[in-house]
Amino acid sequence: MPRLVVVSNRVPVPSSQGSTATAGGLAIALEAALKSHGGLWFGWSGKTSGEREVEWLEIRDVGNVTYAVADLNRRDVEEYYAGFANRALWPLCHYRLDLTDFSRKDMAGYFRVNRSFARLLAPLLRKDDLIWIHDYHLIPLASELRHMGVKNRIGYFHHIPWPPVDVLAALPVYDTIMRGLAAYDLVGLQTDYDVENFEGCLLREGFGKPLGGNWYESYGHRFQVGNFPIGIDTGAFVKTAAEAVKNPTVKRTLQSLNGRDLVIGVDRLDYSKGIGQRIEAFSRFCEMSPSARGQTTFLQITPKSRSEVPEYADMQREIAELTGRVNGQLGDVDWVPIRYVNKAIGQRELAGLYRMSKAGLVTPLRDGMNLVAKEYVAAQDPENPGVLVLSRFAGAARELDGALIVNPYDTEATANAIGRAISMPLDARRERYNAMMPKLRKHDVANWCRSYLDCLASAPEMPKEHPAAAS
Ligand code: F6P
Repeated sequence: MPRLVVVSNRVPVPSSQGSTATAGGLAIALEAALKSHGGLWFGWSGKTSGEREVEWLEIRDVGNVTYAVADLNRRDVEEYYAGFANRALWPLCHYRLDLTDFSRKDMAGYFRVNRSFARLLAPLLRKDDLIWIHDYHLIPLASELRHMGVKNRIGYFHHIPWPPVDVLAALPVYDTIMRGLAAYDLVGLQTDYDVENFEGCLLREGFGKPLGGNWYESYGHRFQVGNFPIGIDTGAFVKTAAEAVKNPTVKRTLQSLNGRDLVIGVDRLDYSKGIGQRIEAFSRFCEMSPSARGQTTFLQITPKSRSEVPEYADMQREIAELTGRVNGQLGDVDWVPIRYVNKAIGQRELAGLYRMSKAGLVTPLRDGMNLVAKEYVAAQDPENPGVLVLSRFAGAARELDGALIVNPYDTEATANAIGRAISMPLDARRERYNAMMPKLRKHDVANWCRSYLDCLASAPEMPKEHPAAAS
């Protein structure tokens, strides 16, 4: 196996004690992949360093992984991260044209940072390295590396949804984005629906032609496109959840419920997650089921996210106001319907909280996969499992057919599903759980990593003169 080089926007470098801070699903998956293969992990340190240009790397070896990270300056963070990545590409890929804010200045910053990353990464590369680039922040990185003469196999994985062509085409530079993707050897997407949309972009706009199977030719380069649904470390999560009953936070929470049913939602504070619609649905459920009033608590754990982006700051205020209104209207002196927590909770605590919840609400308006859905199911007690209520618009819905699938825009139907989940008989709950667990065990994170890298490593040799390098 050649050396693996992983590139992602954020790199969670372990502390000197060897542990990483609470990390998102992508970071956890990549950490698992790198630890089993060993290799290099390159990207942004997550730190902003004044006005200095991106020109040096901090390199640290931890176990079999070398971490190489760069700080970004304020302008880079504003234009590349908060600007083009999170005000243009993110809303667009989540079908939110209403929130897409395109600026040529941000776009220039996005390409500039990708060029700087390529300049820093290229000298660290060895001839046979397998390079795996992740997420929408870094789409042009392969083509920048090609310009610098890098001929290695380079794969890209898109962790978020890929939109239909008419949505993508609203981005003034969508052809440059497609051209950037054509410089890879393998473009990986989360679901078959994303692959369909991506093919639509290639074919309807005349950017590429199909060569049969999953092969395409675009801008003179042949590459593969495939769906590789990301998984979790199922075995480890099952074990963590079973042990988490002893965790002090979990014990305290159980005590504080005083026999009430718990319903849980865990999401970054992001408009794609449908948190407002979920709160409305829970509130509707309480109104429709007088017996549940006072008997059910909804715990929504929502760490703040991307607060420097105006749409996120607006949303923070809106969700806090909505929660306050619902609690004020429905609550009582001895019962608060919604516990709203704005901080990140560790994996162990989360696993225990999932396990004690009768229902897990994962109702994004659009989501690439959503690993919370998978974690919720894996955390359940097989003898007495809770029920997952899952949005049809999450990638996870393509696999987790034992969930109650809902349309998150339909408040009434989601409220009904919450009621159904809480009152579902044990046999039906077990049947649903047993239908999903074998899939979660088989398609875990190790399988995701292996199947992607096998496909990338077996791609045919690059043509001698790469078109991106020639242009
Ligand atoms: O794939 C979605 C993603 O961008 C991941 O890269 C990351 O783990 C998560 O969202 C959080 O985003 P951010 O790095 O902007 O806080």
